[in-house]
Amino acid sequence: MHILVTGAAGFIGFHLSKRLLEMGHSVVGLDNVNDYYSTQLKEARVAILEEMDGFKFVRRDIEDEEGMAALFRTENFSHVVNLAAQAGVFYSLENPSVFVKSNVLGFLHILEGCRHCGIEHLVYASSSSVYGLNTITPHGVHQNVDHPVSLYAATKKADELLAHTYSHLHGIPTTGLRFFSVYGPWGRPDGVAYLWTKAILEDQPVKVFNYGKNRRSFTYVSDIVEGVVRTLLKPAEPNPEWRGHRPDPGSSSSPYRVYNIGNRNVVELVYMLSILEELLGKKAIRVDLPPQLGDVSDNAAEVSGLVRDVGYNPTTPIKTGLANFVAWYKDYHNAK
Ligand SMILES: NC(=O)c1ccc[n+]([C@@H]2O[C@H](COP(=O)([O-])OP(=O)(O)OC[C@H]3O[C@@H](n4cnc5c(N)ncnc54)[C@H](O)[C@@H]3O)[C@@H](O)[C@H]2O)c1
Repeated sequence: MHILVTGAAGFIGFHLSKRLLEMGHSVVGLDNVNDYYSTQLKEARVAILEEMDGFKFVRRDIEDEEGMAALFRTENFSHVVNLAAQAGVFYSLENPSVFVKSNVLGFLHILEGCRHCGIEHLVYASSSSVYGLNTITPHGVHQNVDHPVSLYAATKKADELLAHTYSHLHGIPTTGLRFFSVYGPWGRPDGVAYLWTKAILEDQPVKVFNYGKNRRSFTYVSDIVEGVVRTLLKPAEPNPEWRGHRPDPGSSSSPYRVYNIGNRNVVELVYMLSILEELLGKKAIRVDLPPQLGDVSDNAAEVSGLVRDVGYNPTTPIKTGLANFVAWYKDYHNAK
């Protein structure tokens, strides 16, 4: 397969590209390497990929309509995975326009490229944040997701709508993956595992929002990668049982699917903090705070669709995943 992975300098894109290259596929990794967080970390990820056979890095913005069209014309991609996006629920409160530009306009350019190049399958990152005000847990793809509580979530939901339109109009197989709270080595500096590890090691206060009562389907990055790879190999197909008078939100009469990818084992944030304290051998200087605007208190993944269609569900225990993360953090930052 000749695969375009956008967001390849990012946390998940790096791990996914690495895995696809190890499987023997050729990968064009695209990223604009923006400075939302450390560009040094992004460059370090790219440097590792560039050492591997079959990898080519393209520094480009998916907002660049001409540039994206030219890329699709020159490379004959068989598959596309779109992970490039402006992430960060809280950042979207203060910086709304970049979310619409990257996550909606940029995604439109990906869809246009796929439309004109006849690719076999487009897989794109959606997010558990689309569940918003929906408090039915575990969250399933057949539920309603019309009540987002952050602009980030709204743009991810918009991607699902755009994808459906292209699947319907142009027959492009598209699969949206709703990732649940991903963590692991090479993780994002704005992620809770990273923030808390850094704060504990540097004897800084650890901010614990909603008094630590938020619950999450924390999902180890290798589990996410496994789910993406398996899904990518299985192009979305129309659901023969789909009916317009009782429309199932998770599938369609078009080749369109949406899956959750998340660990079914839901963890309270205070528990996560206690594991980090144990792994780091140090107590956190804990500062309890009320819930944050735009946040959801519980996310819990229902993954029966993934199990049914690709025979997989993420299971890495949080203790194992965090131990791997802490080992990487200490090594990368040369921290004691
Ligand atoms: N990490 C999570 O917990 C999580 C959860 C749900 C969904 N997601 C989604 O998964 C995807 C990957 O997330 P991640 O955690 O690896 O984030 P990340 O920020 O590490 O990776 C995204 C990459 O995309 C690049 N990028 C952003 N805008 C771009 C643009 N306009 N053009 C080109 N490149 C651009 C960034 O430079 C970055 O390297 C994103 O779409 C994110 O919204 C992540």
